[in-house]
Amino acid sequence: MKYVVPYSGISNRLGDEEIKAVTEVLGQDTLAMGPTGAEFERRLATALGARHAQATNSCTTALFLAAQVLELQAGDEVITTPQTFWVTTWPLQARGVEIKFADIDPDSLNIDPATIEPLITERTRSIWVVHYGGQAVDMDPIMDIARRHGLTVVEDCAHVPGGTYKGKTLGTIGDIGCFSFHSLKNMTTAEGGAFVTGNDRYAEMARALGTIHTWGEMAERDDASIGPHRQPAYYRDAHVRRSYTHDFAGGRYLVGNNYRMSELSAALGLVQLGRLDDLNERRREIAARLDEGLREVPGIDVQREKPYARHIYHLYTLFYRPEIVGAPKDDFIRHLQEVEGIEIVIRYFPIHLLPEFRAQGHHYGECPVAEQTYFEHQIQLPIYDHLTEDQVEHMIGAVRRGVAKLGGHA
Ligand SMILES: Cc1ncc(COP(=O)(O)O)c(C=O)c1O
Repeated sequence: MKYVVPYSGISNRLGDEEIKAVTEVLGQDTLAMGPTGAEFERRLATALGARHAQATNSCTTALFLAAQVLELQAGDEVITTPQTFWVTTWPLQARGVEIKFADIDPDSLNIDPATIEPLITERTRSIWVVHYGGQAVDMDPIMDIARRHGLTVVEDCAHVPGGTYKGKTLGTIGDIGCFSFHSLKNMTTAEGGAFVTGNDRYAEMARALGTIHTWGEMAERDDASIGPHRQPAYYRDAHVRRSYTHDFAGGRYLVGNNYRMSELSAALGLVQLGRLDDLNERRREIAARLDEGLREVPGIDVQREKPYARHIYHLYTLFYRPEIVGAPKDDFIRHLQEVEGIEIVIRYFPIHLLPEFRAQGHHYGECPVAEQTYFEHQIQLPIYDHLTEDQVEHMIGAVRRGVAKLGGHA
């Protein structure tokens, strides 16, 4: 089907500047681990007001780094939201960490701080929040809970590069912030992400563990031979300290992985970072027009911007009220898709109901607000910088027509 408003695979149209930047990098002496990535990290840290920023090849890998530097392990518990892309919890599941699901605020769809504290046990180590759809989680009460219980806080910032909470840049409030620059995100490096922290130790660990080094203590043997061989003097690459050139007797250390961003992505990122404020502003303008056109439609509630947040609308969410319209949400979505040609992708199926969590005993009824909101109310319309005015107006008309038709008024 050819959609009038497709769900675009790219968040913003790239232009001459991006093409020039990427083309120039192709002439560099290296396409990996070079000066462009280092510059991107410096500029990103400055833009976010972060002490440390490390570029990664995705938000997923930044989240894997977060779980590793926090040394979370089987037996530990982490509290998070069910309203996210399932990859938020994947690094935790991979380490055997038990997930506890809090519930959400039905308007922001962000984790509801009031539902966190009852889940805390002596095994709880960390709270992982997700700034859903471009709008900040209410961080103050969460940081307060974390301080009182000695917990770390990780912010999944995949949807919020440049979003703020009470004027503070998201990703710099908790212990670690993880960003995504995937093609769909508000700014893109094709694939890419970042690990951001104000903690020197986490930064040092992440630098080693995200770049295939090891981190920790190694016991070096005193004698300078390896088996019958003399210690080689000529290796330059260091696995850890001098492990290529010295014999090691053991030690406790963590082994890293290759989570590095390429120079091509970093070149793209530098240009996109320079455009980020404008890109976010454009999304706010589109959202404001949609809000204006839809606010008065009976059976439709637009999402309110929380007073503490600057919403940057990675997603444009609205809430359908089946009891007012007189038809279930699915019928309305079918109308938007099939009659009006709007490609609807709803984010996200509550993840505590995914098979791997059900197998662990998670069940329907555990997060009533997230469940009711997802199954009955939550809808997203496509939003990206290259939506035309006609497409925006078409969406407003389509929602109005859909409500009228399903309600028997058309
Ligand atoms: C909330 C959230 N976290 C993490 C990710 C993973 O990002 P990436 O594709 O960069 O690994 C996504 C991607 O859509 C996401 O929406």
